[in-house]
Amino acid sequence: MSDDDKGLFQNTRHLVRMAGIFAAGIVAFVGMRMLLVPEGFGRYGHYRAPAIGDNMKKPISYAGRDACAECHADVVEARKASKHVGIGCEACHGALALHTSDPAKSKAVKPKAAQLCPACHEQNVARPKWFKQVNGAEHSGGEACDSCHAPHAPEL
Ligand code: HEC
Ligand code: HEC
Ligand code: HEC
Ligand code: HEC
Repeated sequence: MSDDDKGLFQNTRHLVRMAGIFAAGIVAFVGMRMLLVPEGFGRYGHYRAPAIGDNMKKPISYAGRDACAECHADVVEARKASKHVGIGCEACHGALALHTSDPAKSKAVKPKAAQLCPACHEQNVARPKWFKQVNGAEHSGGEACDSCHAPHAPEL
């Protein structure tokens, strides 16, 4: 029998090992926290104030509708007489600055009308009354909107 196994606390060696593991765990946690939590986090609660500066440094990824006209003059022409003329191209197509600067490298995809059109036109009491809205299920019975309406000039 060793000394450890006698006296008030018997079998203390495994307690010492346990304490060692806990201590190593705490050191690892504090170390990782110092390494991984970014600077500025926590100064105003659960929020990192310098994130605003980081985002302002990112390049703006919208090209603006004038940028599309250079290569897609046919679409600009098609929209001219339509009520959709006021909607920016990227409102439907998404941010396309990369595509604009290099169309071969960054391809644009055609939006799916079946999801796109109801996002603005599905009946909703929160929309202004003058804005044309349809109950998609009754109006087209689930048929894709662009089988009857051309997206760039939707009037029939
Ligand atoms: C520098 C010329 C250029 C500019 C600027 C440009 N595009 Fe394109 N775009 C192209 C080319 C080239 C294609 C590929 C054509 C093809 O494959 O038929 C294309 C394809 C597309 C397609 C996919 C067509 C398809 O048939 O799949 C969409 C949608 C599109 N462009 C939208 C836009 C929008 C919106 C803008 C403005 C934000 C824009 N493009 C700006 C040249 C350009
Ligand atoms: C109201 C939403 C909407 C707006 C605004 C819009 N588009 Fe489109 N566009 C679409 C949809 C939906 C398609 C896909 C049509 C299809 O699948 O054939 C499309 C297709 C295209 C295509 C592929 C070729 C074609 O004619 O089908 C190009 C290029 C394009 N759009 C460019 C533009 C440009 C440039 C503008 C701005 C001048 C613009 N779009 C504005 C919804 C929109
Ligand atoms: C980003 C929102 C938006 C999207 C997406 C959109 N529209 Fe529109 N749509 C409008 C606005 C804004 C008007 C013009 C309202 C006005 O000035 O009276 C309009 C007008 C129309 C009109 C003319 C209504 C009339 O007064 O005769 C039709 C039809 C229409 N859209 C169908 C579609 C179809 C089909 C799609 C999908 C390809 C679509 N819209 C996608 C916003 C949108
Ligand atoms: C089967 C053909 C067809 C399909 C598919 C279709 N529409 Fe129409 N849409 C029409 C016709 C025809 C009109 C004009 C007569 C009317 O007002 O009902 C119209 C009118 C509209 C108008 C103007 C409504 C008004 O009060 O003047 C909007 C907005 C519209 N459609 C949106 C859509 C949307 C969004 C989809 C897809 C969910 C869609 N349409 C699918 C045939 C269609």
